[in-house]
Amino acid sequence: MPSYPEYRPRRLRRTPALRAMVRETRLSPEQLILPLFVRSGTGVRQPVGSMPGCFQTSVDEMLVDARAAAAAGVGGVLLFGIPDYKDAEGSSAWDDAGPVQEAVRALKRELPGLVVITDVCMCEYTDHGHCGVLVGGDVDNDASLALLAREAVSHARAGADVVAPSDMMDGRVAAIRRALDDAGHHATPILAYSAKFAGAFYGPFREAAESTPQSGDRRGYQMDAGNADEALREVWQDIEEGADMVMVKPAGPFLDIVARVKQETGYPLAAYQVSGEFAMIQAAAERGWIDRDRVMMESLLGIRRAGADMIITYFAVDAARLLRTTG
Ligand code: PBG
Repeated sequence: MPSYPEYRPRRLRRTPALRAMVRETRLSPEQLILPLFVRSGTGVRQPVGSMPGCFQTSVDEMLVDARAAAAAGVGGVLLFGIPDYKDAEGSSAWDDAGPVQEAVRALKRELPGLVVITDVCMCEYTDHGHCGVLVGGDVDNDASLALLAREAVSHARAGADVVAPSDMMDGRVAAIRRALDDAGHHATPILAYSAKFAGAFYGPFREAAESTPQSGDRRGYQMDAGNADEALREVWQDIEEGADMVMVKPAGPFLDIVARVKQETGYPLAAYQVSGEFAMIQAAAERGWIDRDRVMMESLLGIRRAGADMIITYFAVDAARLLRTTG
């Protein structure tokens, strides 16, 4: 390639129109997915302290937020449930009248064009807050699979467009695929949280979803933050078990993993800009230390540029609106 002075990269940065023409990565609203926290009742809208702008809502209020998201062009929503009761095995997870199941039915009735994804995990439903069943103080992998499969089938029966297991048990994608197929839901895709790293970035979410482990932590099942090759093995294993889409989570601190997964698999890839990433941007902006909208867009563009096809983000509606007005 020619070098300076023949090649002057600044030539193509001269005007906004030139810059737009040669921009390699773009964000569009339909690539954004908004997480929503649903609980029972009516008229409930409870702010989440560490996530300004996010709420726990009842199904009726959830529809208000989902309508706003759809109107802004957001592609989909990801549902988390806060159940009325919790027990050791998290049995409310497959209650066909649970908040997530009710929310799915309401969304498919009111906003059929919005992609409805459900988070499949036990941590919101177990009284101990772990992502599977405890046997002798440890999360028992194989005993948890049947419960996750039951939860996923209940979500599919309610009409979920996609089920998304986030528990990190080994073999759960295969177990869920088999259970879905046996129940006649062969057309329901699985978005696997394949490379989900243990760490501190989920703190605000655990307040929102009321899913903090009562003892211990999640390092026995979520990934160690130092591991990239292992992330690829996790992703390939989920693909072999039948995952239709894979995910890397968190997004911002793990962009190298996002890039490698996209390059090495070519599979549809989601990245989750998690609660801690969101909270940091919101907090700095509240102090006037950063320009919130610009940092929001840059953080999302970076995740796209690394290789994510879809981004799960609490900024989905604001970012979509901004894209509509500024392009
Ligand atoms: C459930 C789950 C978690 C998140 C998504 N699904 C919490 C966790 O693993 O502790 C985190 C999302 C976020 O922080 O925004 N297992």
